[in-house]
Amino acid sequence: MRIDIVSIFPDYLGPLRLSLIGKAVDSGTIELHIHDLRDWTADRHRTVDDTPYGGGPGMVMSPEPWGRALDDIRGTTDLKPKLVIPTPSGARFVQSTAQQWSAHPWLVFACGRYEGIDARLAQFYHADQHWDGVAEVSIGDYVLAGGEVAAMVMVEAVGRLLPGVLGNEVSAADDSFSIDDSGELVEGPVFTRPQIWRGLEVPEVLLSGHHAHIVQWRAAQAQDRTEQMRSVDR
Ligand code: ADE
Repeated sequence: MRIDIVSIFPDYLGPLRLSLIGKAVDSGTIELHIHDLRDWTADRHRTVDDTPYGGGPGMVMSPEPWGRALDDIRGTTDLKPKLVIPTPSGARFVQSTAQQWSAHPWLVFACGRYEGIDARLAQFYHADQHWDGVAEVSIGDYVLAGGEVAAMVMVEAVGRLLPGVLGNEVSAADDSFSIDDSGELVEGPVFTRPQIWRGLEVPEVLLSGHHAHIVQWRAAQAQDRTEQMRSVDR
């Protein structure tokens, strides 16, 4: 899968070169390109923002450098990228979004700052036949300083679903929220050695070697934990 990320703080995306996703990049499973939006500015000050029409606080990102950047990045290939615009006003990014996107050949993330990107950018690329749609998405109901951290969250959630990225292939299917288990349950607690730690014991059933009982116990724990942690929130 190809992933491009455009930002005025390209260094902010550095952690994507580390750990699980970094290895997927090194192995070629993810072809990652990080771009500086200011490379597509046209003035001496490399301006990317302007005051909002209609007044109000803060600055709005101009569609001009964004349009040039996105056109250049898509280039002349036949492949249609999906444009992802992280924004607190977007549709919620959830595990099923990650699952869907993991089957896509090419995602381009446009990370806005300030009060966001001029709305015509999404409007234009939505109608542009060279692109496979625009997703304006939020990772949660809080406001970050920019789209970079949100893009990293989404790249990690999508990247770990790609074939060969997780060491243990079953773990993605076993996750909390995974759309191919019972649907809405979060995972229950997990334990490793030592068997007794600070007086606290590992649940007996996990030591029993009785696989059916263990499966049953884990399902019940997932149910309990979902009720405990999510009953108010959902
Ligand atoms: N940019 C700022 N806040 C955001 C959020 N919660 N999700 C996605 N992008 C954002």
